[in-house]
Amino acid sequence: MKQFESFRLDTADECLWHDGVQIALPPKQFALLRYLVEHSGRLISHDELLDALWPETYVQPQVLRTYVLELRKILGDDARQPRFIQSLPKRGYRFVAPVTDSPATPSAVEHPAEFAGIAGRDEELGILRTHFDRLAQQQRQIVFICGEVGIGKTALVEAFCRELEQTSDVTIVRGQCVQGFAEREEYYPVMEMLAELCAPPHAEQARPILARRAPAWQVALDRDMQAQKMPSEERALGDLCAFLEGMSVEKPLLLVFEDLHWADDSTLQVLAALARRRIPARLMVVATQGPTQQGDTSQALKKLKHDLLLHGLGTEIALAPLQMPQVRELLQRELHQQDLPQDLAVSVYEASEGNPLFAMAILGHLKTHRFLVCREAGGSARWEQRVPFREMEAGLPDELVQMVELEIERLTPVEQHLLEAGSLFSVAFPAWAVAAAMDDDVAQTEEMCDELARRLHFIKRAGQDELPDGTCSAFYVFAHGLYREVLHNRQAVARRSRSHLRIAEKLRVSFAGCELHVAREMAWHYEVAGQRLLAIATLRDAARNAFANNRQATGTDLLEHALRIAQDLHQTERDAVASEILIDLMQSKAAGSDASQDRATENLDNFSTRS
Ligand SMILES: Nc1ncnc2c1ncn2[C@@H]1O[C@H](COP(=O)(O)OP(=O)(O)OP(=O)(O)O)[C@@H](O)[C@H]1O
Ligand SMILES: [Mg+2]
Repeated sequence: MKQFESFRLDTADECLWHDGVQIALPPKQFALLRYLVEHSGRLISHDELLDALWPETYVQPQVLRTYVLELRKILGDDARQPRFIQSLPKRGYRFVAPVTDSPATPSAVEHPAEFAGIAGRDEELGILRTHFDRLAQQQRQIVFICGEVGIGKTALVEAFCRELEQTSDVTIVRGQCVQGFAEREEYYPVMEMLAELCAPPHAEQARPILARRAPAWQVALDRDMQAQKMPSEERALGDLCAFLEGMSVEKPLLLVFEDLHWADDSTLQVLAALARRRIPARLMVVATQGPTQQGDTSQALKKLKHDLLLHGLGTEIALAPLQMPQVRELLQRELHQQDLPQDLAVSVYEASEGNPLFAMAILGHLKTHRFLVCREAGGSARWEQRVPFREMEAGLPDELVQMVELEIERLTPVEQHLLEAGSLFSVAFPAWAVAAAMDDDVAQTEEMCDELARRLHFIKRAGQDELPDGTCSAFYVFAHGLYREVLHNRQAVARRSRSHLRIAEKLRVSFAGCELHVAREMAWHYEVAGQRLLAIATLRDAARNAFANNRQATGTDLLEHALRIAQDLHQTERDAVASEILIDLMQSKAAGSDASQDRATENLDNFSTRS
């Protein structure tokens, strides 16, 4: 811990303390401040700083200026009369405040046992335990853990492994499938497991068994270690299985395959063989599987899993999002604090929809942007809210936006536009509307949506929509509201408006003669496209239609809606348009029931008062 004036730089927790309040700094700002503080008193050139902060990457020196500017803001420093960071034009920076070493801050960031483990997932851990217990009868077990990105597959497996390591004598090895490796390197996760088994502390037991039961695999492993690949034909699957069974004689063996959706076909064949062999063995396979990706492997995996589940040779645990109490527990564990700031759990739960990865990213975001601050009081530290969570406009966590952006950027420009058009709808989006927004063919758009739904976890097919002109098309939902929001926000306003306008026009054409059904939807698209007059005209037409069909209440509702939109018109148009709507309302009053007459009078009164 380094101290300068009333600040303390905590190099262990990568944060800054000021008068007992913790300030979370973004990583680069922290690294810059740390470098300056640790080399205080001497001139540090721009090049030295750039090398220290971005080794092996070219970064323009101007970037440093931006970071220094932000640091000065945080420290309350003045460039003209620097208390901390002095700029030496064209040369570099010097940290001028005296720096001393200070004792570590006692904080809640200790790790008491009550906050160990993961939140919830008791049932799932129970299922895993039951399967493990069956190994005692020499029955091999295969469990698939499935669920969307960040739902907690790895966290569950790791919690299970930690528990086993504490309670049982078991060998656990892991093989990670890596995105993009399936085509390039067969058996990648299997070789990783073999390498782990043939290294300490298992090597002494494993090496002789491998040499005896699967010599070709031993050769492959040794060559692998020297980066010399050999053809797969020489490695018999049966030998490998025999070796793994041999390894499970002395104590149970748990093989963890991570991210099986990225596995190569050969690895899947190993899994199939392990599951189907009849020889009794204390062998358990746990495989995590995220959303299935495009390509043959996904088909092969689907088929393998289906086959194993059908024949009772495997079990699937589908992870659901966390419930509110579990999100609260997750936050308590992360913050090491039982009583959380008011509304924190609800706010994080609502924004994350129970996805733990998103919940963690949101928590990090709240800390970084100081909506949540850690205060020191009476020798301990507590997390407190700076603004009531219900009132804050926290935005989206940068990490999540970047994660989603990276995935979006891998798509073709047309696919990106398609998803962006889909994000214009609040929940579900029909393919025909996306086609209209893109000015494209419905069948082709639907094909692309289906293709994306198969390949990507962003969207799912959710049903079928039919327009009066006979157009039939599927509709889709976003797997998570955050995806929709990122896709929505990355579009220029002008493009969004154009798309909304096209959708409204498509609705007008498709529902010609029965516009009443979609008047509100059409009006909404016009309104968000900035075409308020068109929105009002649509609602007035529909209202007239409703009155003609003796649907007084519907007609009045539509006119009231139009009146609300009219309030947002420019003053030059507002009064004239509102008067026309009010006349419509008065006419409906003349024709309508007592109730609608009362409402019309009330509207007239309200509007007169407001104007
Ligand atoms: N039940 C839980 N309690 C506390 N934290 C959790 C829980 N589940 C997940 N997390 C945390 O949420 C984050 C995402 O979880 P994890 O990596 O396990 O998800 P995943 O489903 O494996 O994601 P991916 O699809 O990217 O592999 C991690 O930081 C993890 O520690
Ligand atoms: Mg994972």
